[in-house]
Amino acid sequence: MSGKFLTWIDDRFPLTKTWNEHLAQYYAPKNFNFWYYFGSLAILMLVLQIVTGIFLTMHYKPDSNLAFASVEYIMRDVPWGWLMRYLHSVGGSMFFIVVYLHMFRALLYGSYREPRELLWLIGCVIFVALMAEAFMGYLLPWGNMSYWGAQVIISLFGAIPYIGDGLSEWIRGDFVVSDATLNRFFSLHVAALPLVLVALVFVHIVALHKVGSNNPDGIEIKQNKDANGVPKDGIPFHPYYTVKDIVGVGVFMMLYLGIVFFAPEFFGFFLEKDNFAPANSLQTPPDIVPLWYFTPFYSILRAITYPLFGIDAKVWGVVAMGLSIFLLFLLPWLDRSPVKSIRYRGPTYKVMLTLFVVAFIILGYMGMKHPDHTDLIWFKNVRWAQLGTLVYFAFFVSLPFYSRREKTKPVPERVTFK
Ligand code: HEM
Repeated sequence: MSGKFLTWIDDRFPLTKTWNEHLAQYYAPKNFNFWYYFGSLAILMLVLQIVTGIFLTMHYKPDSNLAFASVEYIMRDVPWGWLMRYLHSVGGSMFFIVVYLHMFRALLYGSYREPRELLWLIGCVIFVALMAEAFMGYLLPWGNMSYWGAQVIISLFGAIPYIGDGLSEWIRGDFVVSDATLNRFFSLHVAALPLVLVALVFVHIVALHKVGSNNPDGIEIKQNKDANGVPKDGIPFHPYYTVKDIVGVGVFMMLYLGIVFFAPEFFGFFLEKDNFAPANSLQTPPDIVPLWYFTPFYSILRAITYPLFGIDAKVWGVVAMGLSIFLLFLLPWLDRSPVKSIRYRGPTYKVMLTLFVVAFIILGYMGMKHPDHTDLIWFKNVRWAQLGTLVYFAFFVSLPFYSRREKTKPVPERVTFK
């Protein structure tokens, strides 16, 4: 019966063909490690954010007079509303943790190199779309930090010569952040950007399956096939990696739910205390600070404090922040090392990547702190941010120069697997 039904379906829709091509007979390298959990976890987070978001939208009111109270109503009166809200707010941060680790894996194993440049570029576009999605979502609770955060970031567009002021007014739909802004951000956050993200993730996977996965050795397994055309170092994605990914999902859900149930504000990192007060256009919070996942870039923005060529420091700050993200797109062409994986790369890359990660963390920390205070040793926070910015850019700028001449270790013919 089931066989007949399947044939009926297969005659009308390529079900078994798709299943085989993308799961049961899709050969992935057999040496995937810890770092390969985060792609499937990113898909999980996207789905969870969409599902919990749908439930929140049933009770949320995108109106500047009602928004804040509607979130409180969800938290206190809607059955399981608190759970949906915390899954969604903690979920935003978890999504970024997963995506940052996912991107870091690409830096470890050179996953952005040929033939995966387009896969990487699509990933970078996903990252930008995800940042826009998170930024717009943060306005919706209409807390005081939502309000002032949006005010600051939208006003950055004002730094663009000639069109800047008009552009920021166009984005807000008003001279200040207002009901009009809330309405459009709501529409973009719940409809437009989720659709864009789902579409981008789909093409991300299509691109991945065209070229095949990289792996911790950075070896192209498709170049070494057996008589049947099956990569010798490949194993079917299903059941081997579906099972492996389920283990990852299990461990991840324990961490995620642990935070949701026991520390949903996560010490002010996932929900800021200033956002428990309603938006007030007459009262600026003492420090306007975005959530942690934006603070490295926010730090770069604030690190530029001197005008140059008669152009305001704010403009250079915006340029530096834009450039810090744009450089990610160029990575496949900046790196010219003869090998992909860090396992076989020379010491310079290892040192530079370590410095890059340290700089990113320092930038993230300084972005949460007042620039004029001293929260770490030696200098004021802004000096640390400037140092971090220098190291951040040095990672990208130096790459083409040393990577070409890197002293590499011999890459084995077959993947190493213990
Ligand atoms: C919603 C966000 C994202 C989702 C759902 C997603 C999903 C996935 C999945 C399922 C894989 C295959 C499994 C794996 O290799 O872990 C993958 C691979 C990959 N992704 Fe993403 N991704 C996302 C964002 C990004 C971003 C932001 C980048 C980079 C800027 C990126 C770059 C890559 C690369 C280079 C690979 C190939 C890795 C390799 O084969 O070693 N992805 N992605």
